[in-house]
Amino acid sequence: MKITTGFVQTADVTVYLCPEHAGQPVPQLELRPTMKARGAVTWFYGRGEEAHVLILGLGPEARVDAERLREAAGNAARAVHKEGFATVNVMLESFVRALNGALSEEEAVRAWAEGWLLGSYAFDKYKSRKEARTVERLHLVCASEASYEEALEQTAIRTEGAMFARDLCNEPPNVLHPESLVEMVRERFAERPVNVRVYGEQELADLGMNGLLTVAQGSRYKPALIELTFCTDPSQPLLALVGKGITFDMGGMNVKSGRDISDARFDMGGSCAVLGAMDMISRSELQANIVALIAVADNMPDAAAFVPSTVVTYPNGLSVQVGNTDAEGRLVLADALLHAGRLGAREVIDIATLTGNVGEALGLSVAGAWGDRKLVETLTAIGETNGDRLWPMPLVDDYEELLRSDYADMNNIPPISYGGAIVAALFLRRFVAETMRWVHIDMANTVQAKAARGYYPAGATGYGARLLADFAVSRAEANRTAGGGEA
Ligand code: BES
Ligand code: ZN
Ligand code: ZN
Repeated sequence: MKITTGFVQTADVTVYLCPEHAGQPVPQLELRPTMKARGAVTWFYGRGEEAHVLILGLGPEARVDAERLREAAGNAARAVHKEGFATVNVMLESFVRALNGALSEEEAVRAWAEGWLLGSYAFDKYKSRKEARTVERLHLVCASEASYEEALEQTAIRTEGAMFARDLCNEPPNVLHPESLVEMVRERFAERPVNVRVYGEQELADLGMNGLLTVAQGSRYKPALIELTFCTDPSQPLLALVGKGITFDMGGMNVKSGRDISDARFDMGGSCAVLGAMDMISRSELQANIVALIAVADNMPDAAAFVPSTVVTYPNGLSVQVGNTDAEGRLVLADALLHAGRLGAREVIDIATLTGNVGEALGLSVAGAWGDRKLVETLTAIGETNGDRLWPMPLVDDYEELLRSDYADMNNIPPISYGGAIVAALFLRRFVAETMRWVHIDMANTVQAKAARGYYPAGATGYGARLLADFAVSRAEANRTAGGGEA
């Protein structure tokens, strides 16, 4: 499919973007108010040679922003593909004009292309009947013939990174397991300006990465820590991006129950976010100093598996009682956080599908973020604009006692389930070097969409890939202008 911009062309479909209270945006058509509601998709089919008209509702005009536009574009992509049309005109110019400066034309072009491409995604490689992708030309009608080629090129890189994250996350565990993930990462980054280093069983043992080694005990696959380094400016303070990569969380010996626990393959969402971001970053001109650390294992029950009451010791001197083998994420993240400290990272963001509890607190659209206030603020602001939303959560010192163990320094589960996402963050904090500014993002609630909506298809969302890539850009800019320091 080709995306073009410029004056109006002939096409099968004309798309109009309709915020509420925007007068009558479509000539010769009387729109009902419901057609302008957020998410509304209405067809007016043309007769003979007439173009078909697609009306997209954007909701209250005051709340229209780039994210609403991405959402509408995702909905439009699915609707047009479903009808099987080949060429599309999107009336961006009149929409941008009606918004009176809320969005520039370039912002609208980027947002539309991003939403459309992400919304066209389908993980259908295992279906014998693929979902049709019929659109050949997507033409964005603009006020001039100005070129948006670079913007569209950057958008393509962005969406391909996010779709890489989705692909990895969606892939079932018979294809993607700890060992094949390592190979897939090597392959993806082979031609990129990224150094790939994999710590296998022996190196993990040498470095005392006992969380990974313990969790992986019940698996037929070896665990690994994947270290990806992107360093185009060694003078910048090192930023570490840490991802939880449990390729399947069966719960271990505290085996998960349920009629269908297929979603446990999404437990690598954090590492997918990091890998997706690195995919984007490594195709950009960014001047930065970044290391990605992916903690890879699966969590299986087996005769050799670790059992509850096992004690794991870490090289920072802490011992952990495994109260429950299903709280495995924090055990492997501890290794990666300690490793970030060893590498001398000054800032570290860890991202993980860590607790079911985060969804109790924040619902299914907004991830939770703990740690350094300034960095959380920066991340929150980025998420508000790019759609990977998160919200600040507290590190409650009073809850430290919930980590208490009778015979080790700490337990991997608290005795009560209230505040479980906070307690998990407190657990991780104990593995963060004092020299590092740290943020923990729990994305267990945003890793997947149960049904298609906006630019999310059903399945893995790719959450966090755009967030971390944009954050890396913002940190590099801050380092350049302020010489580092404040976020
Ligand atoms: N990967 C899960 C968290 C999770 C739950 C992700 C639901 C996505 C959807 C994690 O390893 C886990 O099992 N956490 C337990 C912790 C508990 C045993 C303290 C949980 O949240 O129930
Ligand atoms: Zn678990
Ligand atoms: Zn897990």
